[in-house]
Amino acid sequence: MSDITLVPIGRIHTPWQTLADCPHNVRQSEQTATIELYPQYAAGLTALKAREIDLLYWFDQAPRDVLESINPHDQQLKGVFAMRSPHRPNPIALARVEVLAIEGNRLTVSALDCLDGTLLLDIKPAY
Ligand SMILES: C[S@@+](CC[C@H](N)C(=O)[O-])C[C@H]1O[C@@H](n2cnc3c(N)ncnc32)[C@H](O)[C@@H]1O
Repeated sequence: MSDITLVPIGRIHTPWQTLADCPHNVRQSEQTATIELYPQYAAGLTALKAREIDLLYWFDQAPRDVLESINPHDQQLKGVFAMRSPHRPNPIALARVEVLAIEGNRLTVSALDCLDGTLLLDIKPAY
């Protein structure tokens, strides 16, 4: 099996300081979040006009050895690939957010469900 190296391109700033504070998904909060792109990646925002973007981020506090767990929504045992649980072999999170403002290397976006300081892996226009 080969390894893959991912390089974080920035950090996500949210009001959530503990896992218990985090909403279960992006629709459960109205608090905005800030994306801080590391300066060396700021040119990657050139001509970004999308009203919505997909963010890929890294759940550093998630266990990577879980393949099944009880789904909190319906209390059913499910495989991790049947859920959006943060506990998975590669704890990559995905969310579609609205872009509210872009200033230099900082984007203000609609609510996110991750801890303050979570590492950002990628940004793509939603459409
Ligand atoms: C259910 S996941 C959904 C994530 C993403 N929107 C997705 O669909 O891939 C959201 C939960 O991940 C957990 N979480 C947030 N930040 C985390 C981090 N840095 N490491 C591990 N777990 C985290 C919180 O418990 C939060 O409620």
